[in-house]
Amino acid sequence: MFEALQANSGNGHLVPPVALAGKPTGGRESNGMNIRIVEHPLARHLVTRLRDKATAPAEFRTLTNHLTVILALEATRDLPVIRQQIETPLETMEGDTLPEGPVVIPILRAGLGMLSAIVDLFPAVSVGYIGLARDHTTAVASSYYLKLPPVAEKPVLIVDPMLATGGSATQAIDAVKEAGGTDIRLVCVVAAPEGVAAVNERHPDVPIIGAALDRELNDQKYILPGLGDFGDRLYGTL
Ligand code: PRP
Ligand code: URA
Repeated sequence: MFEALQANSGNGHLVPPVALAGKPTGGRESNGMNIRIVEHPLARHLVTRLRDKATAPAEFRTLTNHLTVILALEATRDLPVIRQQIETPLETMEGDTLPEGPVVIPILRAGLGMLSAIVDLFPAVSVGYIGLARDHTTAVASSYYLKLPPVAEKPVLIVDPMLATGGSATQAIDAVKEAGGTDIRLVCVVAAPEGVAAVNERHPDVPIIGAALDRELNDQKYILPGLGDFGDRLYGTL
């Protein structure tokens, strides 16, 4: 994954698709990381634009919206559908529609940047909010807000663009499980191996869907190469 990212950035040469053959294409990653990385050229482009420090907040928000559509489609590809008979203008046929849902829960504040794309895609969605903020010195997240709709027997998408230590995500999953959630999917943009391992260990039943699996965390628990502080870049609070 990381080699492929490097091949696609920097000196501007065209990377033919064949050069990417053999890279992870989704599903269970090697080296024990259970994360599904969306493999689409547009997703790669969007993540690269998000990573670029020259990308200003307005474009950053648009890129986040577009990437979230791709991630949400991947995260919901196994949703059940209701088969029903409908009338087209020409004849009767059987078609599939979605039941009510899913529930989408952004982790504040950066997760808010991913919310509107999902609400637009799934009109019968219900929305919860989990407020968690990492302490700047310890990087330990503490909770400051929790408002959840009914989650039992519904697919729940927890959305947070950055999975670093995994502290925020594991706390959020704990809260949704305490509220009765059993079908939980974690949707992120960039993940660190440390965060994936933490979620996999505490919540092996929760699939993680992301756009990039990065190398490591630095001493301040920021993801490398990463994209910096997502919330600050999204809301211009640098
Ligand atoms: C960021 C990010 C995640 C968290 C990830 O939020 O949006 O929620 O850090 O780090 P972790 O995996 O180590 O917990 P932050 O706490 O900076 O708050 P913000 O979204 O309000 O900026
Ligand atoms: N939160 C962010 O916004 N970025 C990181 O790299 C880690 C946590």
